[in-house]
Amino acid sequence: MPLSVVILAAGQGKRMHSDLPKVLQPLGGATVLEHLMRTVAALDAREVRVVYGHGGERVRETLKHLSVRWVLQAEQLGTGHAVKEALPGIVDEDTLLVLYGDVPLVRAATLQKLTTAAGKGQLAVLTVRLEDPAGYGRILRDEAGRVTRIVEHKDASAAELDVDEVNTGLLACRAAQLRAWLGRVQNKNAQKEYYLTDVIAMAVADGVTVDGIEASEESEVSGINDKQQLAAAETVLRRETAAGLMQKGLTLRDPARFDLRGELEFGRDAVIDVNCILEGKVKLGSRVKIGPHAVLKDCEIGDDTEILSHCVLDGAKIGARVRIGPFARIRPGTELADEAHVGNFVEVKNSRVGRGSKANHLAYVGDAKVGERVNISAGVITCNYDGVNKHTTVIEDDAFVGSDTTLIAPVTVGAGAYVAAGSTITKDAPAGQLTLARARQETKPDWKPPGKKKK
Ligand code: UD1
Ligand code: CA
Repeated sequence: MPLSVVILAAGQGKRMHSDLPKVLQPLGGATVLEHLMRTVAALDAREVRVVYGHGGERVRETLKHLSVRWVLQAEQLGTGHAVKEALPGIVDEDTLLVLYGDVPLVRAATLQKLTTAAGKGQLAVLTVRLEDPAGYGRILRDEAGRVTRIVEHKDASAAELDVDEVNTGLLACRAAQLRAWLGRVQNKNAQKEYYLTDVIAMAVADGVTVDGIEASEESEVSGINDKQQLAAAETVLRRETAAGLMQKGLTLRDPARFDLRGELEFGRDAVIDVNCILEGKVKLGSRVKIGPHAVLKDCEIGDDTEILSHCVLDGAKIGARVRIGPFARIRPGTELADEAHVGNFVEVKNSRVGRGSKANHLAYVGDAKVGERVNISAGVITCNYDGVNKHTTVIEDDAFVGSDTTLIAPVTVGAGAYVAAGSTITKDAPAGQLTLARARQETKPDWKPPGKKKK
């Protein structure tokens, strides 16, 4: 049965105390709604519609890359009204799945259960048992255990409030039936809202079986309404992500102190120490070791490479057997070939560093082409920027650039050239020769300290 999905996201999220609408809050390296959309993608739906509210243009604008149809619900008259607004144009024969934009951790397998039940002509509603069900709609069942209706907390009797099985809000059934039932829903209740939950009793009256499917665990169906719930969702996600990676063989020194905010591929025996954040697309070779407190974004790292503590890598391609850090910053456009070493307080940007070359201490290598087996000593700086344009520094194979040298680009240090420490290189340094570009040291042997003037 083809599937259509309606995601309710018209809520303002006042309790976030944020300029950012609640479904745009960050979660797992994406937004809350994008996160849900990733799960929905696994369902292969014919169409996904997102109901957004007044002031929700920002949601639509920010997430315009999502392939969804946006439906404006100008006035928030209740969940039933919201779904009704989204229905025009949805094919009658489709299974319709209703999701909440602020319930992003629901699993694809759970949604599959709902749609399968709906495909058999049932109305499937996702429920959960809560220790404290206050505020939620209660699931009422008859003596045989069949769901008969849902009563909202504000409309419930004392006996009904004792029920601990609650409505998560997620449901599925045939689109045509939902359309018919929603046409009859009224707002005669404590909140004067059109309740989506009223369709349950209508289904029962029409002889449609209502299947109350229990969620696997509470966290899967928890809503995100405030910053604490947002953090709790992130924690759940962190735990699940780490568990999945460890199952595939990744060594995490502490799964509770590891954040993946993107995608990670890794080889055998890769090890990640505590407090690392991985963003975008990261690929680690076999036996790669990432030290504590590293931030890696959109990087590829070769086999046996070791990244020591406190490194920040962004947009870099790192070879095999490379050593980086501690405290190194590798910026976009950097390529470090096999066996290169980049040490503490070294920044490399948009540069290619050849095999076996080293910049071990306190250097800035920007817009440079560095050959193989080059030594870049402490304090070397490529002066790549003249205030207007960026220029390239070329350092050829086997060159040795002495400490505290400034290389005023564009400039080339030839193969095997030796640049004396403290040089300011403004012209090319020829291959195989020693170049000095600094004031010569001089000692005055007959110098005397100035004496005091007599009055
Ligand atoms: C709803 C359910 C309740 C359930 C609870 C689970 C109804 C009547 N009640 O209650 O049984 O236990 O969710 O969290 O459905 N929304 C719109 N437009 C509207 C109203 C709501 O898009 O006019 C969206 C909200 O953005 C939110 C979702 O629908 O994502 C739920 O709305 P909310 O007001 O939080 O519903 P509850 O009163 O909590
Ligand atoms: Ca709610």
